[in-house]
Amino acid sequence: MLRRLHFEQPKSFAFTPDNLKWAEAQMTKYPEGRQASAIIPLLWRAQEQEGWLSRPAIETVADMLGMDYIRALEVATFYFMFQLQPVGQVAHFQICGTTSCMIMGAEDLIAVMKDKIAAKPHEISADGKFSWEEVECLGSCSNAPMAQIGKDYYEDLTPARLGEILDDLAKGEVPVPGPQNGRYGAEPLAGLTSLTEHESGKTQYNASVQLATDLGETVKRIDGSEVPLTTPWLDAKARGGSKPAAKKAAAKKPAAKKAAAKPAAKPKAEAKPAAATGVEKKPRTMKAPRKSGADDLKLITGVGPKLEGVLNELGFWHFDQIAKWTGDEIAWVDSRLKFKGRIERDNWIDQAKTLAEGGEG
Ligand code: FES
Repeated sequence: MLRRLHFEQPKSFAFTPDNLKWAEAQMTKYPEGRQASAIIPLLWRAQEQEGWLSRPAIETVADMLGMDYIRALEVATFYFMFQLQPVGQVAHFQICGTTSCMIMGAEDLIAVMKDKIAAKPHEISADGKFSWEEVECLGSCSNAPMAQIGKDYYEDLTPARLGEILDDLAKGEVPVPGPQNGRYGAEPLAGLTSLTEHESGKTQYNASVQLATDLGETVKRIDGSEVPLTTPWLDAKARGGSKPAAKKAAAKKPAAKKAAAKPAAKPKAEAKPAAATGVEKKPRTMKAPRKSGADDLKLITGVGPKLEGVLNELGFWHFDQIAKWTGDEIAWVDSRLKFKGRIERDNWIDQAKTLAEGGEG
């Protein structure tokens, strides 16, 4: 396919202040003189902000990275993930048209797009809200036919369901991504035939969908205020060591990996929460955060804005509160989070302990 810049371009582009901070922070990941390595994340953030990549956006990123415009243009025009023309204000639909999806009805999905959005791919709907295109295999073949809408996958689609999803998005709602036919993941439609012991303790949705619903940013334009900026590599430099600061590491890495990377991690096993007795116990809660302000609970891996809101409603505002939960208290909180097992699976207690220490230090 010919990929070229759109015939109509905006006069200028600027990152939002938060996105600019984020972009400048990404550039510090690379050694002096190698800032061009940040080209893809910066272009991607520009697209997340605007929905597509305009020429001024590409050139702004090139200027930031000290690159010739042609080098940045080469990257932007090479990768199909970059949209080089405006997309719908609400959502851009990417319908997989490769073998599995085609066999399972991709052409019928495309017919819905033509009917409800526009006759041709990359055309914007009359109300300005939507656009669509056909894409190559998105790697979700066992859940064919599927589409990527915004950031997330909607799988096991039918034309009727795709039409409903579009209607919901038009109303300002964001339907739950993932399989649309009741499947949890890619298991047989009639249910699991093996590994059934993993049934208990699983989250409400599969991991991808859970994260998508926790983050709630499927079709949102990103302005940088969604997730706190973390720069563990700078903290490590400031400390003169090679290890990321505990606080930032906790935000980025699974707790298990963190534990493995730290020599001091082993003794933590002794500090495990008291074992559950099977009787739920309400932990100590607070009516409001301390005067110093609430901790950013989203720094705990697995806690998104929605879960943070639920935790605050339950009376948890600080890492040290979570760090003290016993097994029975975990069970109490767990049963109020809609799905079970998340706290232990993501090791919130150890993460909260690390974050509480980092906050004080
Ligand atoms: Fe559609 Fe692979 S063929 S996801």
